[in-house]
Amino acid sequence: MYVDFNGLSARKAYHWLASTVTPRPVAWVSSLSAGGIANLAPFSFFQVVTHTPPTLMVCPLLNSDGSMKDTATNIAATGEFVVNLVPFALVSAMNQTSFGYDRATSEFDAAQVASLPCQKVKPPRVAGVPVSFECRLASITPYPADTPSCHVILGEVVAAHIDEAIVGPNGQVDPHQLDAVSRMGADWYGRTRSDTNFELTRPVGWAR
Ligand SMILES: Cc1cc2nc3c(=O)[nH]c(=O)nc-3n(C[C@H](O)[C@H](O)[C@H](O)COP(=O)(O)O)c2cc1C
Repeated sequence: MYVDFNGLSARKAYHWLASTVTPRPVAWVSSLSAGGIANLAPFSFFQVVTHTPPTLMVCPLLNSDGSMKDTATNIAATGEFVVNLVPFALVSAMNQTSFGYDRATSEFDAAQVASLPCQKVKPPRVAGVPVSFECRLASITPYPADTPSCHVILGEVVAAHIDEAIVGPNGQVDPHQLDAVSRMGADWYGRTRSDTNFELTRPVGWAR
């Protein structure tokens, strides 16, 4: 099957990209509105960009009416956000926070998600998650510039909260204990806790 992306509808392009570039980790992003309302929403267009400076990328799409999602609006206004990873135990709550609540409603309240304070940024983090990254906005860029469909948000990680239970005696994070969920195509999700995980060492002589 050959798919020519030239002239492909946005819906079809999304379908082929989102259902094949998988599994994508889910950033459960907490932010504060300029008025101080705590917002929480999941984003799977999410990645590590570099470690120097430690930087994460989250890409909220625009709403169908062309407006920015609350997460992007809040980050642009306050310059701060938190990326929480989603444990399998909280997958239903995560899903509920993707509902389009109005800006005056905090998803923490609506989806009954417990929060904890951060140390270096004002937005709260999610309680009961294996990892939360406190981030300061590095850049927010509409993409593409002429007809944007999303905002590429880069955030510098200024601190992390890591559940010690996920760290093994060798100092490495155990993917089974992390048990983070990831997004796949349609309604499918994956877990880092999986019987099909395997280890693979680098080739001998591999240089960093
Ligand atoms: C697992 C999952 C992943 C999602 N990933 C994205 C994403 O990468 N980009 C996006 O724009 N919306 C994504 N969504 C939808 C948003 O979470 C949803 O539009 C949400 O209402 C945005 O909230 P906000 O307006 O408070 O920022 C995702 C939803 C789910 C359940």
